[in-house]
Amino acid sequence: MSETRETPVLRAGHVVLRPHTSDDIDLMTRACQDPEIARWTMVPDPYDETHARAYLDRITGGAVDAEFPRWVICSADDNSYMGGMGLVARGVGSMKVGYFVAPWARDRGIATLALWAACDWAFREGECEVVHWDALSGNDRSRRVAEKVGFQIKTDVMRKWVEVRGQLTDSWLGDLLPEDLVPLKSLL
Ligand SMILES: CC(C)(COP(=O)(O)OP(=O)(O)OC[C@H]1O[C@@H](n2cnc3c(N)ncnc32)[C@H](O)[C@@H]1OP(=O)(O)O)[C@@H](O)C(=O)NCCC(=O)NCCS
Repeated sequence: MSETRETPVLRAGHVVLRPHTSDDIDLMTRACQDPEIARWTMVPDPYDETHARAYLDRITGGAVDAEFPRWVICSADDNSYMGGMGLVARGVGSMKVGYFVAPWARDRGIATLALWAACDWAFREGECEVVHWDALSGNDRSRRVAEKVGFQIKTDVMRKWVEVRGQLTDSWLGDLLPEDLVPLKSLL
């Protein structure tokens, strides 16, 4: 893989994953102020526009490895911001996925299609053999999204698995091999 490849544009059904632009700052800020996103992810809390700008500087300035992209989740209809999706390397052949969808776009299958597109890319283009998923235990919605895409979620909770704003927190873990990824048509 080249070291500086562009974040690819991906599509699954009516959902598109694309690179961030400065036009996303307003809606990204509004999305990340949602209490559910603060509860289940590691975004700063409280969140304001300076956090969105700093994040954008980091990912467009190359501080985050360009091989492991961060995408805006948006609608193919109008390109508008609906959430975030990211992959990070966990070592050779392995990536971890993270995502959120803005409150105004939820429960329409957006996260499921976006997660499918990111995992499909990871296996096809990212030289990835396994995608790992984790969620703070109790995040039933995120678990449902991962299961719909084909992730196998482990039955046991990992105690104190991840640090969230200074506190070690229990997590659910899951994994997805290429053969587990459901056909896109089953999600449309
Ligand atoms: C989790 C999240 C990304 C889901 O986004 P979304 O676009 O609404 O997800 P989808 O519409 O693709 O799927 C949601 C599924 O959860 C189900 N669901 C909704 N509320 C639920 C609940 N309380 N318990 C269990 N399942 C629930 C929906 O019915 C749907 O499943 P279905 O298609 O079988 O009916 C979104 O709620 C979110 O951003 N939450 C806050 C941040 C977060 O938790 N990020 C993940 C961190 S691991």
